[in-house]
Amino acid sequence: MSSITEKAIANVPAISITGLSKSFLNNHHYVLEDVNLSIGKGEFFILLGPSGCGKSTLLSMIAGFIQKTSGELIVDNEEVSKPGRNRGVVFQQADAALFPWLTVRENVEFGLKMKKTPKSIRHETSAYFIELVGLKGHEQKFPKELSGGMKQRVQLARVLANDPDILLMDEPFGALDAMTRRTMQTELVRIWKETNKTIIFVTHDIQEALLLGERIGVMSIGPSSKIETIYSIPLPYPRQFTNKEFNTYYQKIQNHFD
Ligand SMILES: Nc1ncnc2c1ncn2[C@@H]1O[C@H](COP(=O)(O)OP(=O)(O)OP(=O)(O)O)[C@@H](O)[C@H]1O
Ligand SMILES: [Mg+2]
Repeated sequence: MSSITEKAIANVPAISITGLSKSFLNNHHYVLEDVNLSIGKGEFFILLGPSGCGKSTLLSMIAGFIQKTSGELIVDNEEVSKPGRNRGVVFQQADAALFPWLTVRENVEFGLKMKKTPKSIRHETSAYFIELVGLKGHEQKFPKELSGGMKQRVQLARVLANDPDILLMDEPFGALDAMTRRTMQTELVRIWKETNKTIIFVTHDIQEALLLGERIGVMSIGPSSKIETIYSIPLPYPRQFTNKEFNTYYQKIQNHFD
């Protein structure tokens, strides 16, 4: 393959959104209107906005759970019409996502079992991801025996075990205490660097956005929300919120919501 072709392939966006709009009730009341966004392969992108602006709606459309009203929404060169294996979703409430009657290992292996992956490969894969999220030694536990942070790690390991190219994360650490949340944020950056996934991460927390994202898309207040401004954050990882530049970005973004 020539280097020009390689470069062209590398530049194909993972997700391309043009003039995307969503109305739930009728075509006069738009939750989202004219959203435009292009996300590169392997990018860590944050969708930031106040409660009710349409972050989950946008993420659910990319996941293929809900249908757009108009516009173009392309993932891996295909118009999205339904969920697909190339997209893994991590929900805010791990309780709703995990099967309470399955152990940690069985939860992580669930998708692989559905795909009829042979048992030995299933075990090998789940062992790898359970270790990656720091849950080694807890394989035989049931969700009710785990803390909120541990359950969130199980959910993450399960999604990663299915090996989607794209991780769609909807305020996944929103329900965690501040300390566990910091640990999970650090772990996620580490996992992203190890796996080269494309990540779209939803949050309404500016500090979390700045700790994680290579780019941050700030959404306007609804109705008819759109992505108002996109900030590139060229700060190295791991990021420190005591850093001066970090605070300059914080103020800039905060100004959107004052
Ligand atoms: N199924 C639905 N039917 C009708 N309206 C809906 C539906 N889902 C969401 N909405 C409306 O769309 C708007 C955006 O909701 P959404 O859940 O996407 O916001 P959000 O930015 O994720 O908020 P939060 O930060 O609180 O999670 C809200 O006004 C909400 O009432
Ligand atoms: Mg939401």
